[in-house]
Amino acid sequence: MPDPEATRPDSSGRPAGDAPLAGFVIAIDGPSGSGKSSVSKQVARTLGYGFLDTGAMYRALTWWCLERQVDLTDESAVLAAAQAFPLTIGTDPDDPAVTVDGTDVGSAIRESRISTQVSLVAVIVPVREVLRDLQRRLITEASAAAGGVVAEGRDITTVVAPDASVRVLLTASEQARLARRSRELHGADHADAVAATRSQIVDRDRVDGTVSQFTVAADGVTTVDTSDLNFDESVAAVLQVVEAARA
Ligand code: DC
Repeated sequence: MPDPEATRPDSSGRPAGDAPLAGFVIAIDGPSGSGKSSVSKQVARTLGYGFLDTGAMYRALTWWCLERQVDLTDESAVLAAAQAFPLTIGTDPDDPAVTVDGTDVGSAIRESRISTQVSLVAVIVPVREVLRDLQRRLITEASAAAGGVVAEGRDITTVVAPDASVRVLLTASEQARLARRSRELHGADHADAVAATRSQIVDRDRVDGTVSQFTVAADGVTTVDTSDLNFDESVAAVLQVVEAARA
């Protein structure tokens, strides 16, 4: 049995056994279509900070498993792939390049064959632990280099960086999230386009929600609801939370 004392967080929220994070870390979680990737990137640009898209890491691992013909339902095979995952991910918000074993996978990981299968990888708890360690290391390196970092995903505020300087849950109503993602994927938000988008948003979040809590803010996490905000207003709302935390 693991000793619960061994991983009990200290007063900063940092689980025992983790090295402290460097610099100013802004953790942002949220469901699909909340705008978290584009808003996080713009917040990082505005502050001159690094940026880490942890969803891209799950997507790249899925790509790598498919490339190596690893059965995504075989948890030990996916874990073995995660443990030897030759990933390079950039943390410049203007060029967050993702390469796996030297191949640029920036576009391939956005294809629907990845979007529809990535949850199979993301729900494997031991795989999450491997990626968590890597994410903490990347957060610390990017933050040390730029003075700060914005890291976004589903479990950054709660599991990866509960000791972050600022923690935000970016959310939006299901209707707003569906309409946004539908415009991104299909260039329209009429009923048919929204229906075609539903499985990529609602169903995927339901599966991902079995391993991470990203619909309700944890203690100490500030919720920013972007349902009625445009992009610039959403960025401004997050920057306001950051300013309040600094003050
Ligand atoms: O944000 P995204 O759509 O690129 O995320 C891809 C997948 O990875 C999605 O199924 C949720 C999962 N994910 C996760 O489980 N934990 C994270 N920190 C980031 C993403």
